[in-house]
Amino acid sequence: MKITVVGTGYVGLVTGACLAEYGNDVVCLDLDQRKIDMLRAGGIPIFEPGLDDIVARNVQAGRLRFTTDINESVAHGTVQFIAVGTPPDEDGSADLQYVLAAARNIGRAMTEYKVIVDKSTVPVGTADKVKAAVAEELEKRGASIEFSVASNPEFLKEGAAIEDFMRPDRIVVGAEDDRAIRIMRTIYQPFQRNHERMLVMDIRSAELTKYAANAMLATRISFMNELANLAEKLGADIELVRKGIGSDPRIGYSFLYPGAGYGGSCFPKDVKALCKTANEYGMTLKVLEAVEEVNDTQKSLLVKKVTQRFGEDLKGRHFAIWGLAFKPKTDDMREAPSLVVIDGLLARGATVSAFDPVAMHEAQRILGDKVNYGKTLMDVLDNADALLIVTEWKEFQVPDFGAIKARLKQPLVIDGRNLFDPAIVRDNGFEYDAIGRL
Ligand SMILES: NC(=O)c1ccc[n+]([C@@H]2O[C@H](COP(=O)([O-])OP(=O)(O)OC[C@H]3O[C@@H](n4cnc5c(N)ncnc54)[C@H](O)[C@@H]3O)[C@@H](O)[C@H]2O)c1
Repeated sequence: MKITVVGTGYVGLVTGACLAEYGNDVVCLDLDQRKIDMLRAGGIPIFEPGLDDIVARNVQAGRLRFTTDINESVAHGTVQFIAVGTPPDEDGSADLQYVLAAARNIGRAMTEYKVIVDKSTVPVGTADKVKAAVAEELEKRGASIEFSVASNPEFLKEGAAIEDFMRPDRIVVGAEDDRAIRIMRTIYQPFQRNHERMLVMDIRSAELTKYAANAMLATRISFMNELANLAEKLGADIELVRKGIGSDPRIGYSFLYPGAGYGGSCFPKDVKALCKTANEYGMTLKVLEAVEEVNDTQKSLLVKKVTQRFGEDLKGRHFAIWGLAFKPKTDDMREAPSLVVIDGLLARGATVSAFDPVAMHEAQRILGDKVNYGKTLMDVLDNADALLIVTEWKEFQVPDFGAIKARLKQPLVIDGRNLFDPAIVRDNGFEYDAIGRL
């Protein structure tokens, strides 16, 4: 199948590479010349485990190409996946300018039938807007060409994106016509050899499903964060509570980890956008508004713990930070709690040294020389008043406490991800402050 993927970010590049892996002939379009140049030169603009191999293999096999040429990309794919960004607009709604620009480009250049698939996370009703934009462009040039619009939201997780795409729990397809459904079934047939995973539904339900999934996951996190803060006051241990409730199969263990708040390119913007959609229809999603508010407060919790210990004025204080990416196994720092923590410390006059296994480049791009960067996790500890842990990278989980203690000015660990057994850290002579723990 000839497939075009519009946008070569986390979702577009993974989609293009994985579809090429199954023998499809894929062209990836991006308007960012720098990204395309890098991909053509064999580089990968993002960190995603396993992606480099799969891209290299399929480029080598001639099944995966990269272009900035809209005419070439539109001419290529019978299926045009739109996987461009949908960042939050100033009012919290999803900014559809990139999706609609991509749709218009297709409408302007297409000469034969296309299935235009919204893979970006887009509010309910976007497929109608995409359809109208394409139809308008066709009308402008007096062309009468058939096309279908479908919704195929993506559920991959950064850090496990290849695995998620290759072995999806479900493939949601919203479509209105049999021709589009048949084509989508053909594309996804190799991904469901074991059992049927494709859920075909109307377009609006498909669009809402993606928001509902992210909203539910964000809700679980904010729920646990709020309970963790209560546990701290009550003298209970949230980790024991987590296990106690997770063992109930109706609840399960996933996404019940309290911490320094959720970040990333999806949960914050998707929760906001769903609330905004509800407002547009005269409703308030009270649960989700609280989820967002709790998360905003939680992102500042580590700074609050620091100021409770050292006072509001942090001049002359220095802090070490482990973890900058919004979660492990990615270099993505969009809406990362680390940014809120760093801003809070700097604003109070402190200095910061930070380390992340893969997000250092991204941190330098965003933060410049506002912080010092270490080459290793131990580098950043020297003379710090405390070590703050913001991302739960594997390599932080069994550290050499003796070596940490020797480098810190005082043996204080403020752990925003509950990585350690408090008894072990304290036995090593540290003061240990985590989230909702005894
Ligand atoms: N990142 C995730 O984990 C994830 C998971 C599921 C869904 N999503 C959704 O997928 C969409 C894409 O997310 P992402 O993280 O891959 O974004 P991203 O910012 O990493 O990539 C988007 C890319 O689209 C390109 N682009 C913008 N306009 C274009 C146009 N008109 N033509 C061609 N290219 C264009 C940009 O240059 C950029 O490279 C968003 O709606 C997001 O909510 C993301």
